[in-house]
Amino acid sequence: MAADQAFVTLATNDRYAKGAMVLGQSLRNYKTTKRLVVLIGPHVADQCRSVLDSIFDEVCVVDVRDSGDTAHLALMKRPDLGVTFTKLHCWTLTQYSKCVFMDADTLVLSNIDELFEREELSAAPDPGWPDCFNSGVFVFRPSNETYQKLLTFSSENGSFDGGDQGVLNSFFNTWATEDISKHLPFIYNLSSIAIYTYLPAFKQYGHEAKVVHFLGKVKPWDYSYDPQTGEVRGHSMPPERHSDFLVLWWKLYATSVLPSLRLAYGETPFHTGCTENTAHAGMTDASAPTTPPALQMSSEERKERWEAGQADYMGDDSFTHIERKLDSFLK
Ligand code: UDP
Ligand code: GLC
Ligand code: MN
Repeated sequence: MAADQAFVTLATNDRYAKGAMVLGQSLRNYKTTKRLVVLIGPHVADQCRSVLDSIFDEVCVVDVRDSGDTAHLALMKRPDLGVTFTKLHCWTLTQYSKCVFMDADTLVLSNIDELFEREELSAAPDPGWPDCFNSGVFVFRPSNETYQKLLTFSSENGSFDGGDQGVLNSFFNTWATEDISKHLPFIYNLSSIAIYTYLPAFKQYGHEAKVVHFLGKVKPWDYSYDPQTGEVRGHSMPPERHSDFLVLWWKLYATSVLPSLRLAYGETPFHTGCTENTAHAGMTDASAPTTPPALQMSSEERKERWEAGQADYMGDDSFTHIERKLDSFLK
């Protein structure tokens, strides 16, 4: 085990902690030889913390930092992302010489230890503005000096998006032009947005994806899941947006993470996210949204699909691409 290299993620609250658990478990399933570290906020519940403890090598409590930049965050329609400034703490993990940061809303689909051959700051293009890197997956070298510089830089210049990605792109501002080896292939950070914004490319290359990133306001844990039927439901945002990867996330959560959460919570009710029957009826979240089944499309969604030039990407065609991966993942 490479003791001085680690995958690092962040969860300031219990919702993102679930994402971190699934991400950590997916890295374990693909037998990473690197250490696993999660940075958590002080308010993460003890029960979540104990599950994180069982998956990660290190759970570090950090102060939650907030950009407080409501104006820029409003431009992104994500008032919640000021706290992503907390991500900058990852540079203080100087017990490691090299790390790969991964957002808690990412999921790995194969072993990605080869990322440690890359240098700081390596990252994949952002699907919204490809001359910026997306800060959901990046290779970095912990250093107190860099950390201090980043803090000074962010207090002097702020962030153009109100979150960490704006600061990091301004700070590592030669990423787009200087060294192509720092451009990670998009398959290391396949934003689910790209699936419907460039569907033909997804059909062509999607099966090569190594990391899927559930970028955007609605996260996998905001849906609900029926373990009996394997169906993901709920929320106004149609589950098809995240395609079969969403089902993959839920299968991993339900089979590998939820049992540990149940043990940790014992009799205390908590939001499982699963619509359940008898055995755990007490655990079912009564407030879970009950919207139409996954494949029932709203007219707005139909229109969006039509505009994307493709009407049936959840159809059999695309599923065959993913099915192989699903099978190998669940084996
Ligand atoms: N995050 C967190 N708590 C929050 C919001 C964000 O811990 O309330 C962390 C988490 O690791 C998350 C990352 O910051 O994955 C970036 O936020 P998010 O993934 O929501 O941004 P997006 O990728 O959707 O732009
Ligand atoms: C992005 C990234 C995310 C980052 C956020 C705020 O969309 O996916 O990792 O935290 O912007 O800058
Ligand atoms: Mn993210």
